[in-house]
Amino acid sequence: VMGLSMPTTAQTFPDRPITLIVPFAAGGPSDVLGRLIGQSMSATLGQTILIENVGGAGGTTGAARTARAAPDGYTLLIHHLALAAGATLYRNLPYDTVKDFEPLGLINQGPYVIVSKTGLETRTLAEFIEHVKKSGRGISFGTAGVGSGSHLCNMMLQAQLKVQFNEIPYRGTGPAMNDLISGQLDALCDQTTNSIPQIQGGRIRPYAVTALQRVEQLPNLPTLHESGFPNFEVTVWHALYAPRGTPDAVVQKLSAALEVALKDPAILARFADLGTTPYPVGERGPAAARAKLESEVAKWRQVITDSGFTPTN
Ligand code: MLT
Repeated sequence: VMGLSMPTTAQTFPDRPITLIVPFAAGGPSDVLGRLIGQSMSATLGQTILIENVGGAGGTTGAARTARAAPDGYTLLIHHLALAAGATLYRNLPYDTVKDFEPLGLINQGPYVIVSKTGLETRTLAEFIEHVKKSGRGISFGTAGVGSGSHLCNMMLQAQLKVQFNEIPYRGTGPAMNDLISGQLDALCDQTTNSIPQIQGGRIRPYAVTALQRVEQLPNLPTLHESGFPNFEVTVWHALYAPRGTPDAVVQKLSAALEVALKDPAILARFADLGTTPYPVGERGPAAARAKLESEVAKWRQVITDSGFTPTN
């Protein structure tokens, strides 16, 4: 009957704007990726997608907000490896990392780059390590909070390079990058999606890549793996989620819209410029994303336990 409000069905969904929660500050890697994917999905779904930056606590604040939202497809979350690492690093999470989300699909994967402000007098990785060692805890290193990718990278650098940084937490690496450029922060480990444009612009100085292979866009930049730190690897992977209990037909519709975005040549070209790789076709749907989340929870539990890191509240 006309005039009566109808419940959400796969046919009418979405009939109002969707909110996409980015669990880190604006201007950083998750934000850049969220806006890129969100724009395409918005066009496919014929609805506005509003980006809401809910930074804090290594991305767990934004994840908690999503887990509490109505499971109707109108609140989504873009998140990365920190969702998995947080399961071990936080003692009192208000959600179950594996059970409280419906994965819609995997998006991309890519490395991080160790970078510093240009004012630092070091030029190579060896010089940088030497300088950090000599400075005691004097070199400031930005992170997006416990469990974030930049924090995990920091944790692994400290353990494997046998150095100590003065860790400065931010709500995301977007604002940390701004401080690096202006010279208020000394060093950072950030995804290529955020670091490549600044490296190419000469605004920050790169030292090494956290992948086992070099990055095509930065061919002269060595990996840590080839620089005397065998198997040093931090790889980010992003996925899109809805709250647990979202109807399957809505999950399918959102997942299909994500798939359209990941086949868009303009998005793929942008991914390539930013040194990040789309998840392979056929290996990135909801089931694959759930399996990835589960395996990464187990992987980071092992890495964090082996490193002797004490969980936080
Ligand atoms: C961000 O978007 O700010 C980053 O992904 C945070 C991080 O280092 O994990």
